[in-house]
Amino acid sequence: MTSSTHPTEQPEPNPLSKGIGLLPPQPSVLIVFGAGGDLAKRKLLPAVANLAMDGTLPDRFSLIGVSRETMTDEEFREMVRESVESFSRREMDKDVLARLIERTHYVGGDATAVGTMHRLGGKIDEVAEGQAIDRLYYLSMAPRFFAPVIEALGEARLITRTDTHSRIIVEKPFGTTLDEAAELNHRLLSVLDESQIYRIDHYLGKETVQNILALRFANHVLEPIWNRDHVESVQITAAEDLGIGSRAAYYDASGALRDLIQNHLLQLVTLVAMEPPARFSADDIRAEKAKVLRAVNMPPDDQIDTIAVRGQYGPGLISGEPVKAYRDEDDVADDSRTDSFAAIRLDIGTWRWAGVPFYIRTGKRLPRKLTEIAIKLKPVPMAAIEGVRGADPNELVLTIQPDERVTLRLLAKVPGPGMNLRPVTMDFSYGAAFLSQSPEAYERLITDAMRGDPTLFTRDDEIMAQWDIIDPILRHWQKESTAPPETYEAGTQGPQTQDRILMPGDRWRII
Ligand code: BG6
Repeated sequence: MTSSTHPTEQPEPNPLSKGIGLLPPQPSVLIVFGAGGDLAKRKLLPAVANLAMDGTLPDRFSLIGVSRETMTDEEFREMVRESVESFSRREMDKDVLARLIERTHYVGGDATAVGTMHRLGGKIDEVAEGQAIDRLYYLSMAPRFFAPVIEALGEARLITRTDTHSRIIVEKPFGTTLDEAAELNHRLLSVLDESQIYRIDHYLGKETVQNILALRFANHVLEPIWNRDHVESVQITAAEDLGIGSRAAYYDASGALRDLIQNHLLQLVTLVAMEPPARFSADDIRAEKAKVLRAVNMPPDDQIDTIAVRGQYGPGLISGEPVKAYRDEDDVADDSRTDSFAAIRLDIGTWRWAGVPFYIRTGKRLPRKLTEIAIKLKPVPMAAIEGVRGADPNELVLTIQPDERVTLRLLAKVPGPGMNLRPVTMDFSYGAAFLSQSPEAYERLITDAMRGDPTLFTRDDEIMAQWDIIDPILRHWQKESTAPPETYEAGTQGPQTQDRILMPGDRWRII
């Protein structure tokens, strides 16, 4: 593809990119393992096509799909076309798609076998046409394949630890326990250097998530109040109205705590709670994030119930339609104790946050899709104006989904003779301010990995610190003696017991 064929202009650079120094992607080949899978079809292939639309792909770019199925290049190309047409966030320019498809190839076989890797190596050489080309291997497959596939890549010498032009993107989940994550890190690092491993957390690719850093560190007004002197509590919610659909095989062994809190929501905590990095470099940012995770104080095992609570949906109504109970979903056991709702309270033991509760919750079959971070400020120190006492204090809410916005709740005077107060909101909506549709998270993350910028990927010490927080809760929940998850009616706010972990005077925001 040549740049002259790209119909649209480069998007506005993200504020977070300022200072990082964007390198254009080098000539690259993107190799997608698990190319026939759901994630590839719904997200990755459409993301690549949208990058082609934006002119973000390098001029010399090829895509190679790898999976078990036997397919010709032609059949795979047809699959790519269908997936892009069904799932792209915008209509594709036919010429751009045709050119991308011309550069698309397929290798069928068992990706843990060195023989398949040799054939893949042959295909990479073919598309490289004798010139230097960066390789990005995307492991979009079940986690049990991560280590064997990387070992096979190493054995076939398709990647070596000194090769700075080859990288690997690893999907979630990165282990299902602390021990498994440690073992996986160990096996990956026996083939690769940490700088070659890009552990994806798609929340970090969301524009509004990156905007947390822009808001905090590009504005003077927020940082002085961003601490225990002014903040009463922080509440992070990721609610979904969907159930588990056809994902029981994965979800029933995972549960809400592992599925969203262990990764996405703890990453949001790090961005809210981190200290300003000395420089906006990948390692400085990730070092500050890791410090937050390491500063979390976990209670002794017999007090886990004071900071963590779980639930499981029963039957109920979503948007007026009846939906079945979790235990009645296909392939879920009648006595499953899996959490479809989880809430925890974290105590971050740093000078900045000591004593400020961080509440985090997520659940399926809640009333609606909503992801937000609410920073509740302390009440004013004295109530000179009647009506201030008892009124809701200021609150800054960063809404990540479905509508991307930032709102600040203030108290204002109601027009009229008296001094009556009422809460009002100052509202900044992403769509209205920038008049553009945000790219999908995977677009940004694939581009960054092609450029060799790991800022928005999770480093090994972050992953391990995340597991250090989650593991004690999981171990407690696995005990036979621990109460099972409370059943909540689908479409409601979740289990009643979630209030148990709140500090006096706090309450959950309405979803
Ligand atoms: C995934 C989880 O990582 O994130 C899903 O496995 C969840 O269960 C999804 O639905 C939510 O992502 P998003 O971008 O829709 O908030």
